[in-house]
Amino acid sequence: MASTKLKGGQSAYRTEMDEAERASRDEIMALQSKRLAWSLKHAYDNVAHYRGAFDQAGVHPADFEEHSDLARFPFTVKTDLRDNYPFNMFAVDREKLVRVHASSGTTGKPIVVGYTKADIDVWSDVMARSIRAAGGRSGMIIHNAYGYGLFTGGLGVHYGAERLGCTVVPVSGGMTERQVQLINDFKPDIITVTPSYMLAILDEFKRQGLEPRKSSLKFGIFGAEPWTNAMRAEIEQAFDMDATDIYGLSEVIGPGVAQECVESKDGLHVWEDHFYPEVIDPETGRVLPDGEKGELVFTSLTKEAFPIIRYRTRDLTRLLPGTARPGMRRIEKVTGRSDDMIILRGVNVFPTQIEEALLATDWCGGHFIIELTREGRMDEMAILAEARPESWDGSGLSPHAEKVSAFIKNTIGISARVMIVAPDTLERSLGKAKRVYDKRPKG
Ligand code: DLL
Repeated sequence: MASTKLKGGQSAYRTEMDEAERASRDEIMALQSKRLAWSLKHAYDNVAHYRGAFDQAGVHPADFEEHSDLARFPFTVKTDLRDNYPFNMFAVDREKLVRVHASSGTTGKPIVVGYTKADIDVWSDVMARSIRAAGGRSGMIIHNAYGYGLFTGGLGVHYGAERLGCTVVPVSGGMTERQVQLINDFKPDIITVTPSYMLAILDEFKRQGLEPRKSSLKFGIFGAEPWTNAMRAEIEQAFDMDATDIYGLSEVIGPGVAQECVESKDGLHVWEDHFYPEVIDPETGRVLPDGEKGELVFTSLTKEAFPIIRYRTRDLTRLLPGTARPGMRRIEKVTGRSDDMIILRGVNVFPTQIEEALLATDWCGGHFIIELTREGRMDEMAILAEARPESWDGSGLSPHAEKVSAFIKNTIGISARVMIVAPDTLERSLGKAKRVYDKRPKG
């Protein structure tokens, strides 16, 4: 892992933290109590869906007295949002919205989210806090390669970076050659991008004969998709930078719901003054104690336009106590969504487990896809993994493929055919990587 390049160590962080980051657990919980009561009432009074759902469950915002009462309120799921397309989940008049974003649903209509001016302010604050936690400071240049547009990544980071006092280069995704040129010419301190697209930028550095370790980049803020600590090591080593994880989702606000602190790199602190996390058993809906793995659920505490109550994210993780920000809990790196889970002959597998196995080799730099097919009644998994240019000899490297296949069998417990393909043959993502191609017959 690269060493943190910030001068001044821990004490410098402390003086720059905002009030909520310095607050004790008790102070945060007291604030949450007040804000939860407000948010439940705001949703109930102003959104027909919440009024109906609370009434049906026989609960009223006035029933909320302490944190544990939240469990009595109904969950919100993606289809609730979809059924209220486009504007029926909003709790303010349309005229009060200063912006909408939408998440690109893979099927059916997208989910539309909206923000008042005050919501954009909160978002900018939590994003500024996230960038600072990642090592960013006022005056730094930030190369923002998250997509601009309906996706929340580009504009979310943008406003936070401005709020922190950075110079933003709003590159968006794509045109990789130009990304590298701009990094070389503008000499940014920070890059914000999906980890998979960072690998494409790395390839382009090498293609242009440039030494990535000599680039100006010191901090990378990577998220919007699952990635592993093995990938972190790969990127930090390649660029001699500190890489941290950022988490968020459109339904909750966008990027900046949780962020890893550069000084500890031990999971992501949830900005609990604005977003209340729970982890539940995905089967029964029971709230799990901290430390147990399950599905992450969020309730917004301060959002005006689009309050969200007990939203089931489908992301799997566990809650851990705060470290670098003791008042706010962490989530463990999100290893996958319940939707991404592959069940192969009864064994559950996440693409991140395959990523880890491939990055444990010395010939693969992290580009891979998974293909699922059905032969007769048997499901088959093929992993197409790209060789690093320096490891490729044109032969297909079959002994290496067999070795990693055996490793996957021993560690994950599944039989997968590993095929090593030539450098630069798999399609590069410009944003979130598509890892799984399910070619099994439907139904
Ligand atoms: O991906 C927001 C974002 C933009 C986060 C830029 C970070 C950086 P959506 O497009 O609504 O929003 O997708 C949200 O992406 O439920 C997770 O499944 C996944 N995801 C986001 N961040 C992470 C992460 C943005 N750090 C969905 N690790 C979420 C793992 C992540 N998965």
